[in-house]
Amino acid sequence: MSVTTGDFGQRVTVQTLTEKKLKHDPIVSITAYDYATALLADEAMVDLILVGDSLAQVVLGYENTLPVTMDEMLHHTRAVRRAVRHALLVADMPFGSYHAGVSKTVENAVRFVKEGGAEAVKIEGGTSRVPIIRHIIASEIPVIGHIGLTPQSVHRMGGYKVQGKTVEAIDVLLADAVALDAAGVSALVLEGIPREVAARISREVATPTIGIGAGPDCDGQILVFHDLAGLAFNPPAKFVRRYCNAGELISEAIHSYRDDVRSHVFPADAHSYHLPRETQGQICGEALGDAEATPAPRQKQAKS
Ligand code: KIV
Repeated sequence: MSVTTGDFGQRVTVQTLTEKKLKHDPIVSITAYDYATALLADEAMVDLILVGDSLAQVVLGYENTLPVTMDEMLHHTRAVRRAVRHALLVADMPFGSYHAGVSKTVENAVRFVKEGGAEAVKIEGGTSRVPIIRHIIASEIPVIGHIGLTPQSVHRMGGYKVQGKTVEAIDVLLADAVALDAAGVSALVLEGIPREVAARISREVATPTIGIGAGPDCDGQILVFHDLAGLAFNPPAKFVRRYCNAGELISEAIHSYRDDVRSHVFPADAHSYHLPRETQGQICGEALGDAEATPAPRQKQAKS
């Protein structure tokens, strides 16, 4: 792992996403909410990193995505910005941030770019969002759409349910996709819809589609970092593939640390600083340990 010295290649832009769709080169996207995980994702050269409002649940422990605020989203977007050098950085507009009229919506989108360093914003919803999306794009901020199972609509949907299962619902989804495409979105997240519907939308719109629980025929995929890393503590949804069990690994490490402290195994002498020989000599008669074994201090720790 070389998280600081990598070749980060060309920066991904919204144009790159369209080029990838045209070349049938899958767009790889992932969420990140902090510096460390964003650094790892960016080094893996994923195409798009989303500071998703899923932050509300997987990082902040809220029951759903509705409570997370602009300030909380900005705080995490700034942390991710400091790490990302290659991927397109997208910030999710949280519930309430685009509901109070055009000027407040544009103001919030501008904050993500100006204060958070985002290169695009994502907004949940279909045709009804077109007017505000047009205003944001007119303000020079690329927008990613998001339709299907939109978690901010949990109360209207009556839970997290797969959308687009009837002929009428498919027509609505198609109309939403076409309207967002015409409005100029730079990509369209398709969440929790049947594979066949996602495939049809992906064929019919020019904008690249990015699926989550929408099957393999989208132009790209996105997963929540905590789901793929095994750090989400609820039973995973059907569409999740867990690529490692970091939760178990970290838990084992914390248990070992606890046991080592309780049994006086950690810290050992090798983890200790020592007095210089001169000082030791000035302290008469006290056994103070080996002055020669002074270890180099760890980065950003006290010098001695
Ligand atoms: O908030 C989020 O993580 C998202 C993705 C699931 C697309 O919106």
